[in-house]
Amino acid sequence: MCGITGYIGYREAYPIVIKGLQRLEYRGYDSAGIMLFDGQDIHVTKTKGKVVDLEALANNDEKSKKGSTGIGHTRWATHGVPNDVNSHPHTSMSGNLVIVHNGIIENYDTIKKELINRGYTFKSDTDTEVLVNLIEEVKKTEDCKLGKAVQIALNQVVGAYAIAVFDKSKTNEIVVARLGSPIAIGIGKDYKEFFVASDASPFIEYTNKAIYLEDEEMAVIKVGKGVKVRKIKDDSLVDTTIQELQLSLEQIEKGGYDHFMLKEIHEQPKAIQDTFRGRMLADEGIIKMSSVSNHLEKFLNADRIIIVACGTSWHAGLVGEYLFEDIARIPVEVEYASEFRYRNPIITEKDIVIAISQSGETADTLAAIKLAKSKGAFVFGVCNVVGSSIARETHSGSYTHAGPEIGVASTKAFTTQITVLTLIALKLGKAKGNISQTDFNSYIQMMRLIPSQVEKVLESDEHVKYISSIYKDATNCLYLGRGFNFPVALEGALKLKEISYIHAEGYPAAEMKHGPIALIDENMPIFVIATNKGHYEKVVSNIQEIKSRAGKIIAVVTEGDTTVKEIADHVIEIPETAEALTPLLTTIPLQLLSYHIAVMLGKNVDQPRNLAKSVTVE
Ligand code: M6R
Repeated sequence: MCGITGYIGYREAYPIVIKGLQRLEYRGYDSAGIMLFDGQDIHVTKTKGKVVDLEALANNDEKSKKGSTGIGHTRWATHGVPNDVNSHPHTSMSGNLVIVHNGIIENYDTIKKELINRGYTFKSDTDTEVLVNLIEEVKKTEDCKLGKAVQIALNQVVGAYAIAVFDKSKTNEIVVARLGSPIAIGIGKDYKEFFVASDASPFIEYTNKAIYLEDEEMAVIKVGKGVKVRKIKDDSLVDTTIQELQLSLEQIEKGGYDHFMLKEIHEQPKAIQDTFRGRMLADEGIIKMSSVSNHLEKFLNADRIIIVACGTSWHAGLVGEYLFEDIARIPVEVEYASEFRYRNPIITEKDIVIAISQSGETADTLAAIKLAKSKGAFVFGVCNVVGSSIARETHSGSYTHAGPEIGVASTKAFTTQITVLTLIALKLGKAKGNISQTDFNSYIQMMRLIPSQVEKVLESDEHVKYISSIYKDATNCLYLGRGFNFPVALEGALKLKEISYIHAEGYPAAEMKHGPIALIDENMPIFVIATNKGHYEKVVSNIQEIKSRAGKIIAVVTEGDTTVKEIADHVIEIPETAEALTPLLTTIPLQLLSYHIAVMLGKNVDQPRNLAKSVTVE
């Protein structure tokens, strides 16, 4: 939920850590802070607000920018309101230890009471300040080095963490540890410098070599010496592998767009192409996915598929339900991971659980996976972030290959998740004999066209912008769709809500008359997905019902549509494709619409209030 980063080496740490925090701001942005060690003294600068506010503060005091060791934090508050005092880094009572922390220490209250009994005082309301003082207390009582103190202290805490700790008395090292929250260590040439971060983006221009800590591991990073990784539980040494990163700087920058969200919307043609590249072999008429083929028997004999996910990924899962049931004829249930994990669900060894997550770090989804595994289900992951916790926790899985998604509002993650689910559904449908080779080939041919068709929908941007300017001041909106496009209606509403703060609801179009129709008046914009396949006539009837109640209709239609065009106030066209593939196209104008409305309302598109990109806490 927070971003942590750090540097130790021979360069000025300040610009590296600040830039790193900017790149990690997608993880949380209600406060930010930095610790610099100038060889003599520790300087901590922190503030409520964003990294720009932190920079402004640091600019007032040159001392706060000096030194070649630094750690930084950008926060999404869990314990303690976002204010200057609760911001990280937190310093131990002696002032010698400094920590940044992403996660939650659940038993902090008990530990805090014990520390208070031993004379400790606290400045903040945070669990993190408790942890740094616990480490200090262990270091003192055990008379040990920082690494050992961290190991002992972490064995006393319950919760989740990624931490980086600096000790003024051991100035050539930083200690990091992980349980439930990610941490990567960037390795500089000849071990002359090291970087730590919640993901590799803060250090990608300095090194492409990194170690990703596994859960329950910690590392002592020593300049000039190297990295020693140990198991937190028993202090045993771990044999680690150094990974070559595939990430490029270009991928994590805005590339001329005003916002990451807009860049990511426009990246969708390439992202979808990358998702099926090497998997969908049109000439051979096959879909090659070893992650599925290697477990084909399990898939073919499964009683049902349970999809678990949150937010936008849950919406992709709903599209998956339509795909799997229609194409592969496998019964599907789609569950909010947060509900599934706690409702004592019936899971058997004949169930396949598909967990969908862009970040691969969502705490509820991860917990749902662990539960399903404990009941013997086979768990398959659909993740974007390579090497993420969910990708590692699942038995098998397919990456979406969408590239880094930095805007908090998911866009390309959604369409690439649907692409993966479509490929799996087609592969299973064919293997089960539910679709003929001819239909299979025809799907593949239509899939191949999707990237260029998305490109074409993106050309309607100016038109969508114009529509946005008309409806930007609406206070309530409805989104309606049926069949494969019902989840798209939900997703359209979520996009509008999260970045423009306009209340919006998605509904299956036919459900409108069971309640939401009462909301319709001349001020209510209603976005209807009315493509020419599936339940077109029925959706047209719903549109008529809206019209007769004076609602404003903005319809997403198939090119060449004349019926809806006559009734609706505005239409946005998408090219013709198979009904099952329409979500990949109908989603695009709704993403653009929410983007433009949010920009016109002056909202922070990439960092909407109260949200964070990865929700690594419950
Ligand atoms: O990383 P995940 O896909 O697991 O994240 C799930 C949700 O938190 C995420 O989709 C969220 O709903 C987005 N802000 C939606 O745009």
